[in-house]
Amino acid sequence: MKITIYGSGYVGLVTGACLAQVGNHVLCVDVDPDKIQRLEQGDIPIYEPGLDKLVRDNAAAGRLRFTLDAAEGVKHGLFQFIAVGTPPDEDGSADLRHVLEVARTVAQHMDDYRIVVNKSTVPVGTADRVRQTLQGALDARGAEVEFDVVSNPEFLKEGAAIDDFMKPDRIVVGTDNPRTGELMRALYAPFNRSHERVVLMDVRSAELTKYAANAMLATKISFMNELANLAERLGADIEAVRVGIGSDPRIGYHFIYPGCGYGGSCFPKDVKALERTARAAGYQAELLAAVEAVNDRQKQRLFDKLHTHFDGNLKGRTFALWGLAFKPNTDDMREAPSRVLMEALWESGARVRAYDPVAMDECHRLYGERDDLTLCDSPEATLDDADALLIVTEWTHFRSPDFDTLKQKLKQPLILDGRNLYDPKLMQQLGFQYLAIGRGE
Ligand code: UGA
Repeated sequence: MKITIYGSGYVGLVTGACLAQVGNHVLCVDVDPDKIQRLEQGDIPIYEPGLDKLVRDNAAAGRLRFTLDAAEGVKHGLFQFIAVGTPPDEDGSADLRHVLEVARTVAQHMDDYRIVVNKSTVPVGTADRVRQTLQGALDARGAEVEFDVVSNPEFLKEGAAIDDFMKPDRIVVGTDNPRTGELMRALYAPFNRSHERVVLMDVRSAELTKYAANAMLATKISFMNELANLAERLGADIEAVRVGIGSDPRIGYHFIYPGCGYGGSCFPKDVKALERTARAAGYQAELLAAVEAVNDRQKQRLFDKLHTHFDGNLKGRTFALWGLAFKPNTDDMREAPSRVLMEALWESGARVRAYDPVAMDECHRLYGERDDLTLCDSPEATLDDADALLIVTEWTHFRSPDFDTLKQKLKQPLILDGRNLYDPKLMQQLGFQYLAIGRGE
């Protein structure tokens, strides 16, 4: 089948490469000439395990192409995927400018039936706005062409996106036209394993499903962080509690890890946007507001612990920081807990020596050269002259460090762990002061 994808960002590229991998002919359209040029040369602008090979292989096989030419894009695909960004507006609601711009572009060049598929995360009601925008632009041209607008939200996790796309739990398709639903089923048939993965529903329910999934996951995390803070005050161990509740399959082990707050481009943005949508619909979503507030507070936890430990005396001190990305296997630092921590440390006059396996360039891009930030090329190198080690991202190779070296190099044997990587008893035996999340003060 022929597919056009607008937006060669994270979602667009993964979708394009995976749809090409199963034999489709995919054309990716973007407005950024630099990006298109890089992609044509096989240079992938984002870090995602497996993506560069998939893009290069499919480009070499002629199934995946890139262009700046929107007219060519509209001509190419029966399926016109919108996968452009929806950054938060100042008030937290999603900015639909780019989505509607694509709708206008498609209308400008369309002279045959097209299925416009919305993959971007957009508020409920956006498909209707896309339909109106498209129809309006067609009418202005005096063109009479049929089209359908489908909502097909994506559920990819950064760092595991290829696997998530190739082996989905479910593929949500929202359409009010049964015939289009069948065409979408056919498009996604190669991704069914053992049973049908497409879940067909009406457009608005599909749009809400995306927010409901992210809001539910964010709620699980904030709930656990709330309990972790309580466990500290009650002398309980949240890790024991986690295993205790996770064993109930109705609760499950997934997404109940306490930590220093959730980050990334999705949970913070989507929880806020859903809350704003609720407000606009005349409903105060108190639970969502609480999920967000708990997370904002949780991102301050490591700093608060440090502040208390040093009696507010952080000026002139140096801290080793392991992990910059908002989670392992990505270089993404959007809304990352590391940023809240670093910025609070700098504000207090402390210096940071940081290491991350892949997010160093991103950190440099965000903060540039500064006297109070040293980017080190190994975890060990961060420890020189450091008053404590702070851990914010659970990269696997932080899980079993050489504790003797740690103890030798740190000015004092103090570790603050925002991801509960180590056993507090072992740390005590090894002579460390170990402050984690929800495991005693
Ligand atoms: C999230 C969802 O998991 C995807 O299903 C969804 O498609 C995506 O948003 C999106 O809307 O595009 P992602 O932001 O890539 O994916 O990252 P997650 O793996 O979900 O992690 C989010 C944050 O939660 C991270 O900061 C992570 O450290 C934190 N987290 C996760 C916890 O603190 N505890 C947990 O138990 C799990």
